[in-house]
Amino acid sequence: MGSERILITGANGQLGTVLTERLIKMHGSDNVIVTDIKTPENNYTNFELLDVLNAVAIEEIIQKHRITTVYHLAAILSATGEKIPMKCWHVNVTGYLNILEACRKHNVQKIFYPSTIAVFGDDAQKVKAPQDSPLNPSTVYGMSKVSGEQWSKYYFNRYGLDIRSIRYPGVIGYQSLPGGGTTDYAVEIFHEALIHGTYTCFLSANTGLPMIYMEDVINATLDIMKADRDDISVRSSYNIEGASFTPAEIASEIQKHLPQFKMQYAPDERQAIADSWVSSLDDSKAREDWNWKPTFTLPEMTKDMIQNLRDLGVNESKKKLIKEI
Ligand code: SER
Repeated sequence: MGSERILITGANGQLGTVLTERLIKMHGSDNVIVTDIKTPENNYTNFELLDVLNAVAIEEIIQKHRITTVYHLAAILSATGEKIPMKCWHVNVTGYLNILEACRKHNVQKIFYPSTIAVFGDDAQKVKAPQDSPLNPSTVYGMSKVSGEQWSKYYFNRYGLDIRSIRYPGVIGYQSLPGGGTTDYAVEIFHEALIHGTYTCFLSANTGLPMIYMEDVINATLDIMKADRDDISVRSSYNIEGASFTPAEIASEIQKHLPQFKMQYAPDERQAIADSWVSSLDDSKAREDWNWKPTFTLPEMTKDMIQNLRDLGVNESKKKLIKEI
C-alpha cells in the first residue's frame, strides 16, 4: 500500500486551519488535499474549492487524488444553524452522506467525523454526562450531528467503512477564530481582554460547558485515527473533555494575568442553547479504548492563550491577526 492520501473538508474553519497545518507537517503537502467552500488565506500546494453539497465534485476529488483518508470538518455550527435551520441540516447531513457515499464507492479506508456536545439535550445527565446518554438535542445542529453519528455507525456495520468520531467540546485556540457556535465566547474573551480590557459575554456567569484546548483536540483527533481498528469500540462518537468551566471562572483566571480586565454579561439567544447542553462529560471510554488524556487545564490554557496572542500582536486588530496566521 502506498502512503496515506488525505482529504480535508472545511479546512478554513477554526479546527481545520490548525489540523491542516499539522497533517501537512506529518504527511507532506503533496499528500494532503485541502478543501473549503472559500479560498483560504494560506498558500496550500493542493487546494480545491469544494461545496460538500456537490456529490459529483467530491467523487472527482477522491478519485483524482487517490484519497485513502478523509477528515470531514465542513459543518454549520449551533448558533448559525438556528438562523438557517434547513441549510444547516442540508450541509451537515446531506453533505456528510455525500462524503460517505463517495468513500464507500471509491474505497477510502478511514474517515474522521467530528460530532459535538450539542448532541445532548435537556434529558441528559448534566454533570459527567455518560457516553451512552440519551441524545435528544434541541438545536438543528445537534439533531444533524446525532444523525451523523448514527450514519457513521450504519456505514461501519453495513459496509465496514472505518469511521472514527469524537464529540468535540468548545474549542479554545489562539491560531484561529471560531464562527457561529455557542462556545465562541471562550475564544472571543481573550481577544477582547487583550484589545479592550473588557468583554460582554453572551452567556450568563454560571453557564458551565465542556471545553478543550486546541493542542489537546488536535492530538485527540490524530490519536483516534492512529488507534488500532479493533480498539475502537464506539462507532457512533466518543465523549472527550479537556476542562469544563463557566464564564465567571475563565474571567477570574484571565484577571490573574490582566488584573484590570472587566467582564459584563448580556445573555442572548445562545443562552437557551447552552442551557440545553451538559456542563461536563464522562470520557472514560475514550481513555480506555485509545488512551485519551487531556494535558491543558483552565489555568494552563489561559496562560498559553495570553502569551501566544501577545506574541502574535493581538493588540493591532484581531481580524488582522487571524489573517496573518
Ligand atoms: N462549538 C460548537 C458550538 O458551539 C459546539 O460543538 O456550536
